[in-house]
Amino acid sequence: MKFNIINIDSVNSTNSYAQNLISSRAANEGDVILTSYQESGRGQGSNTWESEHGSNLTFSVILQPHFIQPADQFVLTQIISLSIMDVVKGQLQTNDSMSVKVKWPNDIYVNKKKIAGILFQNFIAGDSIENSIVGIGLNINQKKFQNASNPVSLIHHVSEILSTEVILQKLLYRIDYRYEEQRIKQDFQLLKTEYMKNLYLAGEWSEFSDKTGIFSGKIVDIDEFGRLEIKIKSGNSRIYSFNEVTFI
Ligand code: BTN
Repeated sequence: MKFNIINIDSVNSTNSYAQNLISSRAANEGDVILTSYQESGRGQGSNTWESEHGSNLTFSVILQPHFIQPADQFVLTQIISLSIMDVVKGQLQTNDSMSVKVKWPNDIYVNKKKIAGILFQNFIAGDSIENSIVGIGLNINQKKFQNASNPVSLIHHVSEILSTEVILQKLLYRIDYRYEEQRIKQDFQLLKTEYMKNLYLAGEWSEFSDKTGIFSGKIVDIDEFGRLEIKIKSGNSRIYSFNEVTFI
């Protein structure tokens, strides 16, 4: 894929900018809207995304994943989450005391803190995903946060300030690699195996909460729609969509 970087000094949200490009039919696959500052960076649901001027990566990539059926949208989540994880791992000396994981559905965690988040917006026409906006926030050089819950940056684990441009190039390279690999092979089973292997808290008894309260459970699987399957002590399983369950 050929990436076309549209670099804007500051913008309300790179996802909203990408949305406008799509609405005005000016979007192409590989367009990357990059900014050093978002006035109102968006997170999932009603959340915001905090990122100080020039310190981190905040950008959106436009994809046209016609090879992914709308029912398989979670494939894109897996491709992008694993790509970010690859790059974060590459920047850190991972050892026994450092683990980089994907927290379901699409946060990237270093140890038990969030280093990156993704905001997907898929535009479906008939039985195909016509356009997808992949908004990525990756914390790189920001040391202090005001409101973000549980944040961490690469700078907390490395000794010198990192170049956001260099990390962007690495990230686009990994996204392209994993995306084109799936376009050609469509080996969604293997992709899922890799996602499960890198899933935060998978296979470990942990505390969760849902509308019934706090409970002990173990993540055992993700279904075809990307829903989380948690096994409870009785041996039964519970299935959750995004926002129906919280990790404690
Ligand atoms: C989340 O974890 O809640 C998702 C965060 C996504 C943040 C990125 S930053 C670039 C892009 N533009 C936005 O307004 N949000 C995404």
